[in-house]
Amino acid sequence: MPTNRRFLLIRRPHGTPVPEDFQLETSETPALEEGQFLLRNHYVSLDPAMRGWMDDRPSYLPPISLGDPVRASTIGRIAESRNPDFPVGAWASGLNGIEEYSLGQGGGFTRLVDETAVPKITNYLSSIGAIGLTAYFALLEVGQPKAGETVLVSGAAGAVGSLVGQIAKLKGCRTIGIAGGAEKCARLISDYGYDAAIDYRGKSGDDLAQAIREAAPNGVDVHFENVGGEILDAALLALNPRGRVVLCGLISQYNTAPKPTYNVWQLIVQGARMEGFILTHYVHRFGEAVPQLAEWVRAGKLRMDEHIDEGIENALPAFLRLFEGTNQGKMILKIAE
Ligand SMILES: NC(=O)c1ccc[n+]([C@@H]2O[C@H](COP(=O)([O-])OP(=O)(O)OC[C@H]3O[C@@H](n4cnc5c(N)ncnc54)[C@H](OP(=O)(O)O)[C@@H]3O)[C@@H](O)[C@H]2O)c1
Repeated sequence: MPTNRRFLLIRRPHGTPVPEDFQLETSETPALEEGQFLLRNHYVSLDPAMRGWMDDRPSYLPPISLGDPVRASTIGRIAESRNPDFPVGAWASGLNGIEEYSLGQGGGFTRLVDETAVPKITNYLSSIGAIGLTAYFALLEVGQPKAGETVLVSGAAGAVGSLVGQIAKLKGCRTIGIAGGAEKCARLISDYGYDAAIDYRGKSGDDLAQAIREAAPNGVDVHFENVGGEILDAALLALNPRGRVVLCGLISQYNTAPKPTYNVWQLIVQGARMEGFILTHYVHRFGEAVPQLAEWVRAGKLRMDEHIDEGIENALPAFLRLFEGTNQGKMILKIAE
């Protein structure tokens, strides 16, 4: 029986998580019963949402219990099995934890039967996983972009934001991305096809509103929000009549107390709509989106950058990259060869 290193939550973080909130524990993997299998996790998806699961408050998933591994999506190979549906050596994924081995009892795990659907196995955590699916459904179903419209995206150089910009272009829209720093803004245009880029760092709310007005002289039809705070307030000021605001994430507030949004009156005067998005509401439709996303990836129409750090002992610094903005694409932790 192999030993299992697991990254446990032992204290609820106040603000930005610190090492004392976690413990790397080593334990034995259990002897398998009939129907069970052991997944050797190779890659762990690090997502901003994990910060919310660390808090003790109602959400779309229960809080992580203290003493449990930090909940995360993983992919890996079946290492031991007493379940014919999950044979040794097969790739599988699931919402598991940051741990070297996850115990499978059948439910909650998916066999990754077609390894050739996408260029890299990690794409199951990025372009055709939760990231691609979020960009696809949140933009197309909630944002309802039409050819010729202007789409503004915050967190535009990140995993979700980079795909949103590219899908909006595929739908014939003009795209404007907001990101932190000159280098990321250059990549918005060179790598993700954005028509214009705005560097939010060092800008006041008024500066941001002015920059958006300059980049979108005809106004914004769809605003895709990943960040919140001053960026959302500035974007609201640029909305066109019947504009749509997709509330996908508010990462600027995940480690702080919520801040007010002042310009919601714009929704009234523009007859506009702001709607929250949560991917779990679209599970029944994943089957229609995955083939389309995979086709775009294979055809080179959708670029997905992945930022892969290594080692389960580096789980916290790798996770914190999401809040520091030092990730260049989908944040993934590799914990096995
Ligand atoms: N609703 C859903 O179902 C769903 C599903 C998946 C993801 N999401 C949301 O989508 C958003 C993006 O997630 P992701 O996985 O793609 O992460 P990501 O964009 O790859 O990484 C997070 C990025 O957010 C930016 N950021 C962090 N703190 C910031 C702050 N205080 N102000 C401005 N920007 C900040 C950083 O980019 P800069 O360097 O540009 O600052 C950072 O690189 C998150 O809000 C997440 O919660 C929602």
